[in-house]
Amino acid sequence: MALKFNDSYANGFISEAEIASISSEVLAAQKTLLDGTGEGNAFLGWKTLPDDYDREEFARIKAAAKKIQKTCDVFIVIGIGGSYLGSRAVIEFLKSSSYNALKKDTPDIYFSGRDISAQSLSELLSICEGRDVCINVISKSGTTTEPAVAFRVFRALLEEKYGKEGARERIFVTTDKARGTLKKFADEEGYETFVVPDDVGGRFSVLTAVGLLPIAVSGVEIDELMRGASDAAKEYAVADVNANAALRYAAVRNLLYRKGYAIEVLVSYESYATMLNEWWKQLFGESEGKDGKGLFPASVIFSTELHSLGQFIQEGTRNLFETIVKVKTPDVSMKVPYDEANVDGLNFLAGTELSTINEKAMQGTILAHVDGGAPNLVIEIDEKNEYCLGKLLYFFEFACGVSGYTLGVNPFNQPGVEAYKKNMFALLGKPGYEDAKAALEARLK
Ligand code: PA5
Repeated sequence: MALKFNDSYANGFISEAEIASISSEVLAAQKTLLDGTGEGNAFLGWKTLPDDYDREEFARIKAAAKKIQKTCDVFIVIGIGGSYLGSRAVIEFLKSSSYNALKKDTPDIYFSGRDISAQSLSELLSICEGRDVCINVISKSGTTTEPAVAFRVFRALLEEKYGKEGARERIFVTTDKARGTLKKFADEEGYETFVVPDDVGGRFSVLTAVGLLPIAVSGVEIDELMRGASDAAKEYAVADVNANAALRYAAVRNLLYRKGYAIEVLVSYESYATMLNEWWKQLFGESEGKDGKGLFPASVIFSTELHSLGQFIQEGTRNLFETIVKVKTPDVSMKVPYDEANVDGLNFLAGTELSTINEKAMQGTILAHVDGGAPNLVIEIDEKNEYCLGKLLYFFEFACGVSGYTLGVNPFNQPGVEAYKKNMFALLGKPGYEDAKAALEARLK
């Protein structure tokens, strides 16, 4: 199985009868998703990607990753939202959240173009000083402001450092297959390009070149990631809410939402999952938050945030539930040292594995939070490896599609993201936005 879903800690909040009653809606949503008959069905390419991905491009991704590993010390991934969260999540989950600080034979990887901060850009420019640099600009539209600005900055750096010819060997572009402005520009400049498939939206693109090139540069085995996702695709096609973990998760979270639990908090007891949490937040937030509906996706790392948000989760407004992502088999062994002075009174734990203590912290927290009125769900993967993570990524993508249709929204669009862009362009005086500019400025205080 490699991935298990356990909703038994939600028993006091929802019943088997209620799960049975929502099952027909969830099965209908699954059928809509599998048949491609629902809203947003032009963006379902991610469903079959683990099996029908472009083998030629996959081989080019691996070759480009090797070239990048050989020729640079610093690899800069330029992209925002779905264009970077997936790769960063995988790299940090499988390698480390301190990946850049590790002793390794792969380049440091930095993520840029994900804000409009002069400080972030100038810091990264100084990090690049005296080091060999490659960049991968990732933008489906090619016109997103944040990555476009960063691309200007780092393209200029590379051209100054290596000349136009040298820079050409160090710039990799992941974008629309044929139509976009970035594709045209890349072809004119002679940069190697990779494809964001037309039928895959940004937040579902981690298993395309968008995610795979940066992931491969970090040394993660991308074949295994795809194998895990491929097995998941088969498992989650089964039309049985009780046997299919993705359907059961979609059913339970929709039921909880209908009972007023409008906030889902994704929980991990390991900081290497911080960016996985961020990826998940975009996946569910952008897919479900529309038409005045949706569960608000939040996240925490425990036990760290038990000392900051724990109070609220235990006793605050009772409108949240937690979904814990847990790895069954720990991959690092470390024991509590014996201390003669025993000032902290912890000698009863001397020699105990930290993973055992972490597990007990989790079990104690689940029971306390359930007692406090927060339902808990647990998703467990067997190991922290490529195969299991590939499965987990696909699990969330599939559950998200089913859950969104069950909720009654189109999970594959994001019309609301445009609102801030229009205002920002108008306020910046972009040609064509003159009327809006005056009206917006009049409202600013
Ligand atoms: O999920 C999405 O569609 C978004 O997060 C996009 O990935 C993000 O806005 C970046 O867009 P683009 O790839 O066009 O630069």
